[in-house]
Amino acid sequence: MAQVIIVGTQWGDEGKGKIVDLYARDADVIARFQGGNNAGHTLVVEGRQTILHLIPSGILHNNKICVLGNGMVIDPEVLLQEIDELSEKNLFPPDTKLYISQNAHIIMPYHRSLDKARETRKGATKIGTTGRGIGPAYEDKIVRTGIRLCDLLDSETFGEMLRSNVEEKNFYLTQFYEEKPVEYDAIFDEYCGYADRLRQYAANTSLIIDQEIKKGSDILFEGAQGCHLDIDYGTYPFVTSSNTAAGSACCGSGVGPTRIDAVVGICKAYTTRVGEGPFVTELTGTIGEKIQTVGCEFGATTGRKRRCGWLDMVLVRQSVRVSGITGIALTKLDVLTGINPLRICVAYKTGSEQFSESVPPNTKVLGQCSPVYEEMAGWSEDITGAKTMDDLPVNARRYIERLEELAGVKMSLVSVGPGRDETIMLRNPFHG
Ligand code: IMP
Repeated sequence: MAQVIIVGTQWGDEGKGKIVDLYARDADVIARFQGGNNAGHTLVVEGRQTILHLIPSGILHNNKICVLGNGMVIDPEVLLQEIDELSEKNLFPPDTKLYISQNAHIIMPYHRSLDKARETRKGATKIGTTGRGIGPAYEDKIVRTGIRLCDLLDSETFGEMLRSNVEEKNFYLTQFYEEKPVEYDAIFDEYCGYADRLRQYAANTSLIIDQEIKKGSDILFEGAQGCHLDIDYGTYPFVTSSNTAAGSACCGSGVGPTRIDAVVGICKAYTTRVGEGPFVTELTGTIGEKIQTVGCEFGATTGRKRRCGWLDMVLVRQSVRVSGITGIALTKLDVLTGINPLRICVAYKTGSEQFSESVPPNTKVLGQCSPVYEEMAGWSEDITGAKTMDDLPVNARRYIERLEELAGVKMSLVSVGPGRDETIMLRNPFHG
C-alpha cells in the first residue's frame, strides 16, 4: 500500500496525463487536489486520444475511485460536458465511482468574465491566463465569498450567496472593466440544473480517502500545472492561483502529510511554457521550432503554441526541494532525437550573481538572468522502442544520468513516446 503524489516540476504540460494513467493501473483511488479546467491532460489509449480537464485520468481504468478534492475549483458545465463525452465513448459506465468534495469551490460565469476582462485591461502586462475563471474563483475562496458544491446543492443558500456575488461582481464588471453585467436569474436557473446532476457525486472526499487508506488501498494524488506555476514558489505573478507543489495534495484532499510515501516529479526532457512570464532557456530559433513541432507543443486547454527551450535544471532542483520529490519521471525524451549537441541549463547568471539551486523571486532580476549551459552530445537513433536503459544509445543514457546528478534524485521512469508501452519503467513508487 502506498500514497503517492505526482506533480509537474516545470511550468505544467510535462506529460503528467500519461504518467498518471500509467500509475493509475496500480492505484485504487486517483485524486485531484488543486486547479480546475485550466489543466488539460492528453491521453492516448489504444491509439485514441482523450483530453481530460477535470476528471482524473484514472477514469479510463475500470473500477477506480476518482476524486475531485476540496482544493479544486470546478466549472460544473465543463465537468458535466466531460462526463457526457466520456459516456458517449463508453468510458463512464453507470457504476463509475466519481466523488466530488462538497467543499470544492464552484466556478461561476462572473469568474470567467472577470478573468477575461482583467487580462484585456492589462494588455501587454497580462498573465496569459487560460481565461477559465480560475484566479477569480480562488479569490472568492480566500475572501470567503466563494460558492462551494455544498452551497450550490442547497438552493436557498445558493440563491442568497449568488445574489450578493452578482451585485458585487456586476459593479466591477460594469464600472471598472466596462463590460456587460451577468444576470442573476439566468445563472440561478442554469446552476440549479447543474446541481441536480452533480448531487449524486457530492461527498466527503477526505473521509472516503481516509477509509481507503485504512483498508490498505493505494492512492495516487494527481497534481495539475507545475511547481513553477505555484502561487508561492512559481514565477509570480506569472503563475496560477493555487499551490501546485506537492504539499498542496494534503490540504487539497484532506489527508495528513504523515500519510504520504512518495512524490514523483514529472520532468519533460526540455522546457515549455504557455502564457507570459520569464523563461531563461527559451529558444526562439529553429531548434525551438523543431521541438515545438516534433513535441506537438500546443496547449491541451487553449490550443496555444507552447514556448520551448532547453531543459532548465534550476527549475527542477527547486521543485525537487519544495515538493520533496523522491523520483523523477522523465518524459518526451524521444523529441530530442536528432538534436546535437544538447544543452542543459545548470545555473542562471546576472552580473556577478549566480543561481543554481533556486529561481530568483524578483521577476525583474529573473528577466535579466542568462542561462549557464552544459553541452552534451545528442543521439540520432530512434529510441521509441526502448524498454530498458540498455536499449538506449549511450548518449541518451549519459543525458539521463547527468539529469539524475543535477536533480539529486533517481529516475522512476523514462517516457520515449506517447503510448502506454513506450516507457522504460525503472522504480515504481507503488511497489516500494
Ligand atoms: P490560470 O491558471 O488560467 O489563471 O493561468 C495562469 C498561468 O498558468 C498562465 O500562464 C497559464 O498559461 C498557466 N497555466 C494554467 N494551467 C496550466 C496548465 O495546465 N499547463 C500549463 N500552463 C498552465
